This record gives sequence, structure tokens and C-alpha cells, in this order.
Amino acid sequence: MTTLERARALDAADALRGFADEFDLPAGVIYLDGNSLGPPPRRALARLRDAAETDWRRGLVRSWNDADWIDLPARAGAKIARLIGAASEDVIVCDSVSVNLFKLAAALAARRPGATLAVDAGEFPTDQYVLEGVARMTGAALTRLDGRAPPKNSVLVQSLVHYRSAEILDMAAAEQEAAAQDFDIIWDLSHAAGLIPVDVRGAGARFAVGCGYKFLNGGPGAPGFIYVARGDADAMAQPLSGWMGHAAPFDFAGAYAPAAGVRRFAAGTPPILSLCALDAALDIFDGVDLGALEAKARALGDFFLGATEGLGLGVHALPERRGGHVCLRHAHGYEIMQALIAHGVIGDFRAPDLMRFGFSPLFLSFEDVSNAAGVLADILSTEEWRRPEFSRRGKVT
Ligand SMILES: Cc1ncc(COP(=O)(O)O)c(C=O)c1O
Repeated sequence: MTTLERARALDAADALRGFADEFDLPAGVIYLDGNSLGPPPRRALARLRDAAETDWRRGLVRSWNDADWIDLPARAGAKIARLIGAASEDVIVCDSVSVNLFKLAAALAARRPGATLAVDAGEFPTDQYVLEGVARMTGAALTRLDGRAPPKNSVLVQSLVHYRSAEILDMAAAEQEAAAQDFDIIWDLSHAAGLIPVDVRGAGARFAVGCGYKFLNGGPGAPGFIYVARGDADAMAQPLSGWMGHAAPFDFAGAYAPAAGVRRFAAGTPPILSLCALDAALDIFDGVDLGALEAKARALGDFFLGATEGLGLGVHALPERRGGHVCLRHAHGYEIMQALIAHGVIGDFRAPDLMRFGFSPLFLSFEDVSNAAGVLADILSTEEWRRPEFSRRGKVT
């Protein structure tokens, strides 16, 4: 059996293959970057048009009530809650991951006098940078862990799925350790939400943030989400105490009184058009088995690794339990990725030498992956990547 024949056989047996019709991908593109920016779901595009043409253009300011814009952060949050195992009222959509991390880390540091902020040195940069800012502001110490356990009385920021290795951590085991050693964990679910089953309640996780524009397909700059377990939220004061987190914003009272629960983590007016797109995109997940998504992403990644095995590329890490991407390594990874993109195979590049390929299970087929591997093989054998235009660096890689 050829690689392509094997791919077609796997596609024929794939229970998720119908979901590809949900997405509006351009012809001739094999999109291996849904882990960075999910492609547009048809229902999100339709909702965007409707939100602009009907709710904004005709409804005007009345749409805050008539289209219930005001409760959209909580409604979309409830849809995400189902994907991460949270109670529906414990998640809201707001701000970016960076801002949500800031609010949570500052609030938790304030609750723990003398706390240390902790983050792994290989963690996604914004998670480290935000903690640096919180440390400067609060005077808390910041420690970068290098595989070491966090100190007692600390606030740890930790990705559930790592942005380079795609390693999936054991959330329940980490929370047991946190309880025993007296530290809090803020989970960054950016590469996990909408891809793998997450059960924050079952694992005892109380704080999390995550991205709306990756596997949740909410669109460029879609707002992120924040989860705080109810028992904790009511006892927390977040530093961006804006009017949208007030118990009664339209009382226009002089003093701040926080809303109950996680709603107090809202700050200012939500980006309604983006939120509408995300809210519609989330409906795709209705009734979807997240275990099946994880399994297919893994199988697509394994297929890609098998099909690219003899090409002389390094493989970054291959953890036992892996999320939705794999990274191949080459000193000219940037140029090779640009050549791939020129051929319609879109992945991304992470300095210094990683070509990252994402395997969003909702819209990719094994045939796509087989074809992508074929294009990569051609680019390497012809050395087409050496063409000067492929070494020109864009601002975004
Ligand atoms: C793990 C992780 N955390 C945070 C972010 C950034 O989030 P935001 O731009 O919403 O602040 C990313 C973006 O790729 C990410 O991969």
C-alpha cells in the first residue's frame, strides 16, 4: 500500500471527516496551523455578517439588550465550560490570555502574602513576561523553574499542552502536588481547549485561562477565556476592577462592588463582533467527543511523522501523551517553511529552528497530511527552499 492509499483508507474509517464541511478553507491550501489561528467556520462567518448587518447596523445600541450582547461573555463562557469540565457559570470570555493571566496571577499573589511566582523557563513567553510584570508590581519574587518543583506558597503558571513539545501534563497529579505543597496553579489551556478532554473539576483545578483563536476557531484576535472555581472567585479581588466586572454596572455607582463569581474578572466593554464569531464557532463542538479529537490529532501527527521519517529532519520532542502539533527541526527551518507556504502547505516556525505542524482534527484528512509530507519531500530534494525570497523574514513567523 502506498502512503496515499493508507491515508485514504484511514479517511474512509474516520468518524470525524464530515466536520471539514463546517470550515471555509481556500482551495489548494493544506492548513497545518489551526493550532495558531483556526480557520473560519462557515457558521462564524454567517454570524459575523448578521451581527454587523442586523445587530449593529439596524439594532444599534438597542442590541445590547435585544441581541443580548451584554450576556455574551457568559453565554460563550458556558459553551467553553463544557469543553473544559467546568460548571457553566464559572467561565467567561474576555480579554486576551495575557491580560487574563495578569488578572489571575495578581489576584492570587495578593491572597498569599510572601508568595513566589513560578513559571517554567520553557513556558510560552507571554506567560513568563506577564509574571515578570506582576512581580515588579507586587514585589513578589519570581522564579523560573527548570524542571524543579515550585516552592511552597507560590503561584505557578503552567500550560496543559506545551506550545513546542505538545506534551500533555497530568492535571490531576499536578493539582494533588499543589495541594500537598501549598501552591496554586493557573492553567494555560491555550493549546488544549477544543482539542483534548479537560476536566478541571475532576482534576481539582481552580484557575485557568485559554485562547479563543486556536482550536476554538474564534477568529484572529478572538477574546480568550478565564475560569475560576466559584468557591475561589467570590473571595478574590482582581486588579482590573472595571465596570463590566461590577455587580451592577448600570447603577453607575461611585464605588466598585464586584459581581459574584468569575464575572468579576471582566473589566471593560467586550469586543462584540469577535465574540459573536467565537460564540458561533463554539457550536461546532456540540456533542463532539473530545477524546476522539485528541485521538485523531495524534493519529494525524503520527502519520505525518511516519511519512516524513526518511527526510533527514530532526524531530523536536515526542512526549508520551501529545497534543495537536509536532515540530520538525532543521537549521533552515524558516526557509523550508516559507517554501511550504508558497506551495499552499501552511504551518509556522518557532525560533531558532522548529517547523511546527498542527493537526486540527476537525478539518484535516489523512490525505491532506500525506500530500503535505509529499510537498515537504519535494522541497527538500530539489532544495527549492534555497531561493532568496524564502529567507525574507516577516514580522510574524
Ligand atoms: C500557550 C500560549 N499562551 C498564551 C498565548 C498568547 O495569548 P494572547 O495573545 O491571547 O495573550 C499563546 C499564543 O500563541 C500561547 O500559545
